[in-house]
Amino acid sequence: MTDEAAASAADQFIITREDRRFAEFCESCRRARYIGLCYGVPGVGKTMSAREYAHWNELESVLGPAPYRRGGLPPRDSGPWQTVLYTPGVVNTPRTVQRDVDHMWGRVFSLAAGSSWYADREVNPDPRPPDLVIVDEADRLKTASLEQLRDLYDRRNIGLLLIGMPGLQKRLARYAQFSSRVGFVHQYQPLSGRELQHVIEHECVQLRLQPPLADNTDAAVVNAIGRVTGGNFRLVDRLFVEIQRVMAVNNFSTLTTEVVAFARESLAVETT
Ligand SMILES: Nc1ncnc2c1ncn2[C@@H]1O[C@H](COP(=O)(O)OP(=O)(O)OP(=O)(O)O)[C@@H](O)[C@H]1O
Ligand SMILES: [Mg+2]
Repeated sequence: MTDEAAASAADQFIITREDRRFAEFCESCRRARYIGLCYGVPGVGKTMSAREYAHWNELESVLGPAPYRRGGLPPRDSGPWQTVLYTPGVVNTPRTVQRDVDHMWGRVFSLAAGSSWYADREVNPDPRPPDLVIVDEADRLKTASLEQLRDLYDRRNIGLLLIGMPGLQKRLARYAQFSSRVGFVHQYQPLSGRELQHVIEHECVQLRLQPPLADNTDAAVVNAIGRVTGGNFRLVDRLFVEIQRVMAVNNFSTLTTEVVAFARESLAVETT
């Protein structure tokens, strides 16, 4: 994601029921100091929810790898910063996992504490260290890296949340010591019903589709989009890019089921 794209993604974040459920799940792992697993199919919104929960769009300007790191401090009221969001590289080793998580944990703590590293900040007299580490793309971790995380979890007395694809739970079940520490499992669900309608209305406004669908969004259009995308956030986004193109090329002014059918033809994925 470029800086601009990240900023615009942050602007466009839509709070959904799944997002709220994800946040509650994080809170449970934090409070109980458990290991939690969150799994869901690609594109449902796992990473976006995690970034929102951890305030990562704000923190990335300080903590993220180049080119996200710009050095500008996030506004204090964008906190509290008590969560580390870590995405392991495609190639990772126990050493890189430990180094990167420790580094980010320390930086988030410094930021929350307002330490001298951030000279222009008021020092927080009662700083709380980050007590939840979220690991996105956990499917990339091999046994040794998982062991490293288990060690971190045992030493730091923190909650640990692994995000991955369906099947993650089964794979981890093979590692008895790790899975015996798993307290909660959460399946991230696609959009449906009123939630999907809300996202569709939002997309219409964003893309300035005329006339924007208002309170009574045409149920047939919502159903058609639901069928094409299965409520998958990424597919809804992609479908709307196509919808915008189809409407512009054909000079359509209203979003109808025919427009959805045209747009679907150009989607480069198999849909149900
Ligand atoms: N809450 C949201 N608000 C706005 N857009 C969202 C939201 N959640 C997801 N999206 C859109 O859907 C896309 C996919 O979301 P995300 O990357 O979080 O999925 P994911 O479940 O992490 O997928 P993967 O398993 O492939 O990593 C995002 O790039 C964004 O465009
Ligand atoms: Mg993701």
